[in-house]
Amino acid sequence: MSAPKRYTVTSALPYANGPLHVGHIAGAYLPGDIYVRYLRQRGRDVVYVCGSDEHGAAITIQAKKEGTTPQAIIDKYHEINKQAFKDLGIDFDIYHRTSSELHRETASNYFKDLYDKGVFEERETEQYYDEDFSQFLADRYIVGTCPNCGNDNAYGDQCEKCGTTLSPDELISPRSMLSNKPPVKRLTKHWYLPLNQYEEWLRSWIIKGEGRTEEWKVNVAGQCRSWIEQGLHPRSITRDLDWGVPVPLPGAEGKVLYVWLDAPIGYISATKQWAVDNGKQWEPYWKDAETKLVHFIGKDNIVFHCIIFPVILKANDYILPTNVPANEFMNLEGRKLSTSRNWAVWVHEYLRDFPGQEDVLRYYLCSNMPETKDSEFTWADFQAKNNNELVATLGNFVNRVMVLTNKYYNGIVPQGPQDVLKQEDADFLAQIDRAYKNISESIEKYEFRAAQNSLMELARQGDKYLGTLEPWKLIKTDPVRTAEVLYNSLQVIGHLSQLAQPFLPNTAAKLRRMLHLNANVAWNEQATLLPTGYQLNQPELLFSKIEDETIQIQVDKLHASQPMTTPTEETQKSVILSNVILSGVEGGVEGGAEGSAYEPMKAEIVFDDFAKIDLRAGTILAAEKVAKADKLLKFTVDLGFEQRTIVSGVAMHFKPEQCIGQRVSIVANLAPRKLKGIESQGMILLAEDSTGKLYFTEPTVGTPNGAVIR
Ligand code: 2FM
Ligand code: ZN
Repeated sequence: MSAPKRYTVTSALPYANGPLHVGHIAGAYLPGDIYVRYLRQRGRDVVYVCGSDEHGAAITIQAKKEGTTPQAIIDKYHEINKQAFKDLGIDFDIYHRTSSELHRETASNYFKDLYDKGVFEERETEQYYDEDFSQFLADRYIVGTCPNCGNDNAYGDQCEKCGTTLSPDELISPRSMLSNKPPVKRLTKHWYLPLNQYEEWLRSWIIKGEGRTEEWKVNVAGQCRSWIEQGLHPRSITRDLDWGVPVPLPGAEGKVLYVWLDAPIGYISATKQWAVDNGKQWEPYWKDAETKLVHFIGKDNIVFHCIIFPVILKANDYILPTNVPANEFMNLEGRKLSTSRNWAVWVHEYLRDFPGQEDVLRYYLCSNMPETKDSEFTWADFQAKNNNELVATLGNFVNRVMVLTNKYYNGIVPQGPQDVLKQEDADFLAQIDRAYKNISESIEKYEFRAAQNSLMELARQGDKYLGTLEPWKLIKTDPVRTAEVLYNSLQVIGHLSQLAQPFLPNTAAKLRRMLHLNANVAWNEQATLLPTGYQLNQPELLFSKIEDETIQIQVDKLHASQPMTTPTEETQKSVILSNVILSGVEGGVEGGAEGSAYEPMKAEIVFDDFAKIDLRAGTILAAEKVAKADKLLKFTVDLGFEQRTIVSGVAMHFKPEQCIGQRVSIVANLAPRKLKGIESQGMILLAEDSTGKLYFTEPTVGTPNGAVIR
């Protein structure tokens, strides 16, 4: 199939309300950057746009938290994030801002065009209002319990725990973010996008694939399907807020566009600014059917990019996304990455702590990209990937070849094979073609982990070839063969300098310098890049070993960033209480020994004692109070293979709705016991700290229900 005429590639505009962490990079930016670098290398016409998302409650709430203005917040984080992207080599053609005049005008006109076409419905409805602060409460201004998973900090527009899109009316026990009080209702007018009118079209486009040229990832299509199948409803696309793009209609004073309408239009305004800056036309990139539009995002942004934005694009006759290869989430050391809990590896801090090692982070994040399921960042794995792969394979291969070429031939490419190639050489050199083929096929399918693995496979083959033929021994007996071996190895390194470019741009640049090659890296499969007689430059160190102490500093820093106790997560400092639920039921949980941070150890047991206990991972599906028992909660727990009723003496510590969706560790083979007439079929493990506070002992993120804990 011939290549599209041009590409418009976007990565989600991050909110300028905080710094970027590794999860952001692995989700939406590194894949976009690899894709675009590859396209550019192949000479395709591509624009890669991104920028700061600077409107919405995410910004104004952060300003309140930091005791400053929204403008100060966006100015601060726009610069930090722009610099972090640049330093990590995420090479946007433009990093724009939605607070810019051009964007305000673009978003405003876009809305007006849709309004003039009669796309919107105008409705007057009752909405939540905080009387203390004289403000309507939308999106992040209102929190409550998620009707889907029981998370009691779900926002008015989305539950971050289960990903469900919500409206404030769906929240159970809503409360204002401003006053923390239950809100009242007031009448207000808003404009709605009637998604229901597009349901049939969305069904045929997304579910049946009509009019699409590419398959969508299973996770993306699945999320869209479930959204569509639940039935689409009109969605309000304006808000009562004083921060955002004003609604350009008479009678709409004090109202702004919903941030999720405004932000994706930011892709268009960024393209316009790029076109102005570079003497180009922006329209073909958004209106010409021969343009391929690809959105790189994280999974929490799927409905906005696959349903709401396409409806808006279609309604104004813009092109639709060819693909939205959304990634899942990356966790960190067994827990969800979290900005608010400061459980993160911040990109700007990494860049400061690991100067010159930008490619190591890129390599690690790509090798661990959450393409099909959530993945895990651990510092130990980061170290291992650097030391065992980048240093020991790629670095070692290149270094040995460069040093030997310097030593034996003064850095001049020696004489290569002259007659028919030996089989081992032919096999080795065939790896080059294979790498080009595998890498390009994988990248075009948005399979970046596989693509980078093919790159590393070529280096592995190089290292193996060198290790088998041992030119450092051969030089004593067979100088002709030595020259051939090093010549062949150099050809592979020349191609590695091209193939590494999308993934490891700094490494590619170093290789180009060492090899005395042009810095503009093409995708030149056939070329003899380093002919006999070609003068190379001095070798440079590509990667260096990361020591245990360096890693320990990062691990310590991560843990030191945590408050002393974080409910349900901070179990390290606590003692597992295997007897709280049943033996403590009547008397309640009394807390740890006064004055000591740790409960005294119990007597030693032998392994067989421990082995009798069947511990399993589970999830609480339902929770309710037990009648006439202040301290008891009745849980329904999913153990994968079955559901259990478990009664536990924790009602003084947790509200039932807090527990729904909670991951737990269960003693699954405890003899059943009746409590207040209910048969309890197991025990939930809890940890208790020295103050008597209880914590659920969550299995590591991703552990399936029913998995045995041993
Ligand atoms: O989730 C977020 O961080 C949003 N700021 C992403 C916006 S993507 C696009 F629509 F601009
Ligand atoms: Zn939820």
